[in-house]
Amino acid sequence: MNALALTDDIARHFGRARESYEQAARLQRLVAAKALTLLKPTDGLLLDLGSGPGWFHPKLKQHCTDLIALDLSHDMLQKTREAQDATLAVQADAQALPIASESINRVFSSLMLQWCEQPQLVLREINRVLKPGGSAVLSTLLDGTLEEFKQAWAQVDHHQHINQFLPLSFFLQLQQQYPESGLELQTEQVQLSYPDVLALARELKDLGANTVTQGRNKALTGKQRWQKVQQAYPSRCIDGSISASYQVLHLVLTKKSKE
Ligand SMILES: C[S@@+](CC[C@H](N)C(=O)[O-])C[C@H]1O[C@@H](n2cnc3c(N)ncnc32)[C@H](O)[C@@H]1O
Repeated sequence: MNALALTDDIARHFGRARESYEQAARLQRLVAAKALTLLKPTDGLLLDLGSGPGWFHPKLKQHCTDLIALDLSHDMLQKTREAQDATLAVQADAQALPIASESINRVFSSLMLQWCEQPQLVLREINRVLKPGGSAVLSTLLDGTLEEFKQAWAQVDHHQHINQFLPLSFFLQLQQQYPESGLELQTEQVQLSYPDVLALARELKDLGANTVTQGRNKALTGKQRWQKVQQAYPSRCIDGSISASYQVLHLVLTKKSKE
């Protein structure tokens, strides 16, 4: 799939999930709450990149004077507009921001970066739009996320059912390459439990997080195959309930003030 078709696919899946998202957003609540503790309040503009339906905006609004929501998905932004917490809702790709340089005080972005083909472009764009002295907090998922689910599927077929997540080393390298970005990294592991693998798959679908960006299999998955995945799942209780791991990375970026 080319980059444009992939971005359309991601936006479509998230758009379809606009009504079910908030209820399914268990991981998102935990991650956004932690990211918020790292965000410095501002008297100016705060940009929320990959804002989704905007369920977190009542909290973000308290950290700034004006909030700008930005997302790929038109339907997600529609929810944001209905809630009227954001001053502006912009449909755009975070890898190419339609925003003037040095115009934003803070950037917040929770669980969007892992959907971007070139996360380094997002960081570059953030650095461009931030005012000197401004800062950004981003959270993303790393390699090892949903590893149990991936291992279970690997016992059943050779298709890709889970997205590939970048390793921590990718971000450590960026940190070394651009010391002037003041990039700080913090990792965290989150475990969530589910009644069974179907419940896990349903949650991903309800979140719109079911686009597989590489090597996906479009064929429908039958009941027998789900039973095999359930049996092969490595972290399973006697009652069948399962535990899934999420490797979370929080990034804090501070743009140098002008001398
Ligand atoms: C998992 S949701 C996170 C939403 C919200 N930040 C939260 O924490 O609940 C990811 C969001 O990022 C958006 N997204 C994905 N790739 C994007 C990109 N390249 N530019 C802007 N938004 C993007 C999706 O449309 C979706 O609404």
